Amino acid sequence: WPAFSGDVEAILKLKRERDAVILAHNYQTPEIFHCVADIVGDSLALARRAMEVDAGIIVLAGVHFMAETAKLLNPGKTVLIPDSGAGCSLADSITAEDVRLMRRRHPGVPVVTYVNTSAAVKAESDICCTSGNALAVVESLGVPRVMLLPDEYLAQNIAAQTDVEIIPWQGHCEVHDRFTPADIRELREAHPGVTVLAHPECPPEVVAEADFAGSTAAMSDYVRRHRPASVVLMTECSMSDNVAVDHPDVEFVRPCNLCPHMKRITLANIRTALEENRHEVTIDPLVADRARRAVERMLEV
Ligand code: 13P
Ligand code: SF4
Repeated sequence: WPAFSGDVEAILKLKRERDAVILAHNYQTPEIFHCVADIVGDSLALARRAMEVDAGIIVLAGVHFMAETAKLLNPGKTVLIPDSGAGCSLADSITAEDVRLMRRRHPGVPVVTYVNTSAAVKAESDICCTSGNALAVVESLGVPRVMLLPDEYLAQNIAAQTDVEIIPWQGHCEVHDRFTPADIRELREAHPGVTVLAHPECPPEVVAEADFAGSTAAMSDYVRRHRPASVVLMTECSMSDNVAVDHPDVEFVRPCNLCPHMKRITLANIRTALEENRHEVTIDPLVADRARRAVERMLEV
């Protein structure tokens, strides 16, 4: 990929000089995912692997809550996010005060928060979860009712798999919210036999029409294990681009939706992040201690 080679070479050199590693989410573009990232994965994998980083600097090629989670789990490291405006509609849908309000409304009911939240929101929760472990986390609490905030669709999709009563919040992912059951029916008509995989941030009616629902890592594993002749991933566009590289024998049908926040991260701003040490992620220590407990409890499940 000649268009990218200047930035790629510079980033590889800067990583060595600055003792830095790049963690990239599955939604990063292929030139980031395949050419400069040291560790790739879903939110759960990035959290786990961030804890094990020895290098002095972590560059998080992903959105802000992912960089905050890395900082919570490895507080001695410098964590950089190449664009500090890389947010998330789910993280923006709920505040710490909203969580306190929910606790007053539902006294004694534990609060599970999706990692797609700010550190301040995590600090108000009992335990975090990701799309990869939400069911296990909810059931690990051994109680009849939990709040699962803020993704309403994830809460509904988990509620369909457990006897635990789930109290949701009304947050949505602006990317997965746009998929509809009609999209799936049209795809199946246009591509007979296509396997449909959906992310659990999709509306429950979409998940109901899919062949499988799971985190970005689970979707990738599904393709590796089942090798369908043709597949569509109802999720962010770069997912198919990244997975397709390893599966030239699989046809990827590609209606997809872009995440404008993930797309703020580019090779150019990763390079600048390493050159100028920006944008450093810091978390108020009083918030960080409580938020870390919620993330660490999740990792123990
Ligand atoms: P995963 O944890 O499945 O990678 O999802 C993160 C995310 O932001 C999905 O929109
Ligand atoms: Fe947030 Fe949705 Fe983008 Fe994931 S895809 S970072 S949930 S807005």
